[in-house]
Amino acid sequence: MSSRIKVTNEQKPCYDIVIEDSFDRLEQELDGIVKGNRKIGVIADENTCIYYDNECKPLLEKKASAVHLIVIKSGEENKTLDTVSFIYKSLIEKHFDRRDLLIALGGGVIGDMTGFTAATYLRGIDYIQIPTTLLSQVDSSIGGKTGVDFLAYKNMVGAFYMPKLVYMNLSTLKTLPVRQFFSGMAEVLKYGLIRDESFYSWIISQMDAILEHETTVLEEMIYRSCLIKREIVERDPKELGERALLNFGHTIGHAIEKLKDFQLLHGECVALGSVAAAYLSYLRKYITAEEYYEIRDMFVAFSLPVSVDTIRAEDIISVTKSDKKMDGDQIKFILLKDLGNAMIDTTVSVQEMYQAMEQIIYKEEDYYA
Ligand SMILES: NC(=O)c1ccc[n+]([C@@H]2O[C@H](COP(=O)([O-])OP(=O)(O)OC[C@H]3O[C@@H](n4cnc5c(N)ncnc54)[C@H](O)[C@@H]3O)[C@@H](O)[C@H]2O)c1
Ligand SMILES: [Zn+2]
Repeated sequence: MSSRIKVTNEQKPCYDIVIEDSFDRLEQELDGIVKGNRKIGVIADENTCIYYDNECKPLLEKKASAVHLIVIKSGEENKTLDTVSFIYKSLIEKHFDRRDLLIALGGGVIGDMTGFTAATYLRGIDYIQIPTTLLSQVDSSIGGKTGVDFLAYKNMVGAFYMPKLVYMNLSTLKTLPVRQFFSGMAEVLKYGLIRDESFYSWIISQMDAILEHETTVLEEMIYRSCLIKREIVERDPKELGERALLNFGHTIGHAIEKLKDFQLLHGECVALGSVAAAYLSYLRKYITAEEYYEIRDMFVAFSLPVSVDTIRAEDIISVTKSDKKMDGDQIKFILLKDLGNAMIDTTVSVQEMYQAMEQIIYKEEDYYA
């Protein structure tokens, strides 16, 4: 298999998304990107560096005067300015200059942080994304949003900074822990729900094949997800309007992520937030009760949580309000006008939010029901 999606930025060709099942084409893809005697810095975490020594390093060494690996600890709790400082120091020690290149080899945490380092080191150096999680392949590696968390606020410090290439080798998913795979499924389901009802129905029809990791089905799922993400970020690169639709499930999801102290994965929190947002859409009579329950069941089928314990509705609501302080007083929700058609809404009342929280806060009686 081999596919290519071209991405523009402000109507100009910007970078390609290359979908492969090995690293074989990486060297060739770097041809137009690594010019002359450049150094390459590969940023990986303790899990994704397995793809460096045997697979990437020999290929990269053919393209660069020197290749350096910088390994950081894995996990969202390390997506911080402290880790970025550590990367800056390593780059300075190795005399990286503005002509050199960074490569993010890992999931969204590595991708967001490498992109931010690239945006800010020497006022900007080139970088490419090699996403190795489902979530980063379908979502975070595309669109140039980079950044880190700050004081436990998600993605509080960052920059829009486009990569030169997104190269995904789908065979890296074979080593991905299953819980991480399902976390990525939350973003895949999001695309169907917000943009493409036929994709949503296709996911339902292919559920068994996806659960079995059937190669051709995964390829199609990832390819179609990338097309939807590409279309949205091309039309609204700086999130002035419709790119906000990608935040479906994220308003509540981010609050839960914070209240759970990042013990739940990003996609797991997005699943919870999506159930809440779907319920709000049902309350507004945009979708039917059947459609709401079907959405909930989809998350369950992909082992994603639809209820959460040990947090209180009032805490979720107050964190949601404080997290969105940049938007003034209004909390921005993404609701489903129909299946496959989302819209931005800033009129959700506190009472409606409580009703939605009732749906996702675990109650013991549910367990015995
Ligand atoms: N920039 C964006 O537009 C955007 C969009 C969505 C999410 N995000 C961000 O992405 C992050 C989540 O990304 P993620 O889910 O990829 O998490 P992650 O980067 O933490 O990766 C998840 C775990 O899987 C391990 N891993 C990665 N690839 C592996 C592989 N092939 N085999 C074995 N282990 C592997 C990692 O070491 C880590 O432990 C969050 O910080 C979120 O805010 C950003
Ligand atoms: Zn997300």
